[in-house]
Amino acid sequence: MNIVCIGSGYVGSVTGAAFATLGHRTVVLDIDATKVALINSGKSPIYEPGLDELISAYIGNTLFATTNYDAVREADVVFIGVGTPSKPDGTADLKYIKFAAQDIGKHMNPDKFTVIVNKSTVPVGTADLVASIIEESSNLRCNTHFAVVSNPEFLREGFALEDVFFPDRIVIGADNERAKSVMSQLYQGIVNAHNYEEKSADFYFEYKLGTKKPQYFETDIKSAEMIKYASNAFLAVKISYINEMARLSEVLGANIMDVATGMGLDSRIGNKFLQVSSGWSGSCFPKDTAELLATSRKYSCELSVIEASVTSNQRMHSFVVDKIKRKLQSLNGKTIGIFGLTFKPNTDDARNTQASFIIRELIEVGARVKVHDPQGMDMFKRLNPELDIDYCDNAGEAARQVDALLLLTHWDEYQELNWQQLLLSVRKPYILDTRNFLDHEHLRAIGFDCEGLGIGPHRSTERSGGIVAV
Ligand code: UGA
Repeated sequence: MNIVCIGSGYVGSVTGAAFATLGHRTVVLDIDATKVALINSGKSPIYEPGLDELISAYIGNTLFATTNYDAVREADVVFIGVGTPSKPDGTADLKYIKFAAQDIGKHMNPDKFTVIVNKSTVPVGTADLVASIIEESSNLRCNTHFAVVSNPEFLREGFALEDVFFPDRIVIGADNERAKSVMSQLYQGIVNAHNYEEKSADFYFEYKLGTKKPQYFETDIKSAEMIKYASNAFLAVKISYINEMARLSEVLGANIMDVATGMGLDSRIGNKFLQVSSGWSGSCFPKDTAELLATSRKYSCELSVIEASVTSNQRMHSFVVDKIKRKLQSLNGKTIGIFGLTFKPNTDDARNTQASFIIRELIEVGARVKVHDPQGMDMFKRLNPELDIDYCDNAGEAARQVDALLLLTHWDEYQELNWQQLLLSVRKPYILDTRNFLDHEHLRAIGFDCEGLGIGPHRSTERSGGIVAV
């Protein structure tokens, strides 16, 4: 098929590269000429493991990038993958969606049936909005000349390729039979090639052989739009919940690592998204919970569970700061070294991260802050220009002469640091590991005063419990 993906952010560039890999002629369209030039030179416009390799393998063959909306004329399917940032009241700002719809309408081919797909996270009802804008700008009729479909994206940053090629489910919201048939044909490549046996030699498929077949779920448009928000909010609630259990476990002397494992053995609960942290953050959960809450208020339909999970999440950020305050007693004149500025590892995305909140609080009470992140420092600096902090090129520098080390993001490289050497450069050997990720027993053995979250000051991150053969 001929595919156009509008937007070259996380959704558009990954979707574009994936369909090009599956043999479709795919054009990534962005108004930003710099990003387009980058893709055309075989490079990814975002940091995402494996994406550079994929783009450089397919660019000029089945993958193309352009700033020109003329590409829409040839398209069978046009994906809209532009940003939907939060407005100050929490609702999603749909201006980029509207611009894209207008431009699609102006360039649509009247002699061809085009399927327009909302892949960005958009509020319920946006498909109707897109259809009406296209009708106005094209003078064509929805469901005669074109149809609008909702196909929310569920990829996680840092695992985007894995999630796109091996999703748990593909959700299609469509009311038009012709559009449904186009979408099911398009997704054949992913649904029925889940083992990618023929391509097993390719670097990006190797590690996932044997994965189970994705579920292909068809529903009406509004339900599909709602599934995306309901899923993200549910995951946010799940993390807030385990973080609350961590706070209580710490007081009562239980070990949250074992609590989470024991809970996860119940298949109704599942073992995923029970990992303790200083709170969820990033570009999706804060934005999507805010949009749901703002919409629910407009329609007088209170979402108290989600509201509580947002408040609880902010408390989790503060809980971490309080722990350091208690440990160091006064932060005036103290220096804190921060490991990790991104909202999770394997991404350079530093939008809305827990680090920005926690660092602000630390500075407020008088601390000096030194930071390191393997990929996120540039974006963090750009987004937080007013923060007076020292950006360090390596973790060792961020640990020099500090009174406390605070690990916020569990990048693998922090596990592999020479901690023995770091011990010699810190002023005080205290480390707070908010992901319970480091080897606490080893760190204590070499002389660090090491704490995690929800495990008490002397317990290990190694689970003490385990499944026993009886
Ligand atoms: C999330 C969803 O997981 C994706 O399915 C969705 O497509 C995406 O939002 C989106 O809407 O675009 P993402 O924001 O990339 O993906 O990151 P997650 O892996 O979900 O992590 C979100 C936050 O929760 C991070 O700060 C992470 O560190 C934290 N987290 C995650 C925990 O604290 N504990 C966990 O057990 C899991």
